Amino acid sequence: MTGSRVLGSGSALPSRVVTNAELAARVDTSDEWIVERTGIRQRHIAGEGETTSSLATAAARAALDDAGIEASDIDLIILATATPDNTFPASATKVQHALGCNGGIAFDVHAVCSGFLYALTTADSLLATGSASRALVIGAETFSRILDWEDRTTCVLFGDGAGAVVLEAPDAANPASKGGPGVLASRLHADGAQHDLLFVDGGPSTTQTVGHLRMKGREVFRHAVANLSSVLYEVIEDAGISAEDIDWIVPHQANKRILDATAKKLGIAPEKVIVTVDSHANTSAASVPLAFDVARRDGRIKSGDLVMFEAMGGGFTWGASLVRI
Ligand code: ACO
Repeated sequence: MTGSRVLGSGSALPSRVVTNAELAARVDTSDEWIVERTGIRQRHIAGEGETTSSLATAAARAALDDAGIEASDIDLIILATATPDNTFPASATKVQHALGCNGGIAFDVHAVCSGFLYALTTADSLLATGSASRALVIGAETFSRILDWEDRTTCVLFGDGAGAVVLEAPDAANPASKGGPGVLASRLHADGAQHDLLFVDGGPSTTQTVGHLRMKGREVFRHAVANLSSVLYEVIEDAGISAEDIDWIVPHQANKRILDATAKKLGIAPEKVIVTVDSHANTSAASVPLAFDVARRDGRIKSGDLVMFEAMGGGFTWGASLVRI
């Protein structure tokens, strides 16, 4: 058990909202098709001057405020993103500088839509070993910049945004394993054989271009439900709980049908699933911390609740973490 505790959360969205009707004016699609197949009604799209690091910094500031701590208290920043400001240096270092807490550890994690789970698990491990004492774990993306806006099969699915949590090293006096707050169990997986089902057709070492997102949607859907169900069972077993003990599932927001199918497979009531895909669409690594922050701020997720985070994305990569808040 690792056991790092969530002290606070924050999120940030670009101000510009793009509705399905606006997309239907650009590509051959309709509000009806998008809502029926995905549950998405709108998405936020970054404007000029808004970048992955600026959204990440805004989310981080909100999380620090919520936790009631100063940026100078942070000695680890992990930013999950597949759309960094630049190929290098890591956007996490830009966030660190913007927050004014230079000197600690800062790096990006790239696991696409599962990025937040990879970042959370990595931060939890570093905090548990004493390498750092307080971390900002951020998911931030500007997927609008890697979409092919003429491809109706992908451009309707994604949006931009950022979410962040502040994590603190485990409390030896009140450990998560004995009922205190903290990370109870986490599992991560990857299967590189599925690389070509969801990828970007560009990059510095191949085409020297940024490229566009390409996806075989139907096959991704099939793998998503199977992989997510199995990793959720693993974490439930590792933590020694049963599915009914979970108060909330905060899933990666890819598609309402994936959320419904996964909850049904686990026998979890739909009311326990936090859903933001309708208003944010799929914000990749940002979607889990964004949805978590929405549900904490509207009062659904409270201290003491048992929350399951889960995600799957390109690679494929997938993972889940069970945390007592
Ligand atoms: N508007 C109208 N019609 C469309 C659109 C659109 N935006 N996109 C596709 N279509 C058409 C297709 O061309 C096809 O037409 P055809 O039958 O004449 O060939 C028809 O709709 C059905 O297409 P499918 O791809 O079979 O539709 P499906 O029911 O599988 O829904 C979707 C597509 C929404 C992409 C679904 O497969 C899905 O959600 N997959 C998961 C993908 C995903 O969420 N990826 C995100 C990253 S990974 C992750 O986060 C888990």
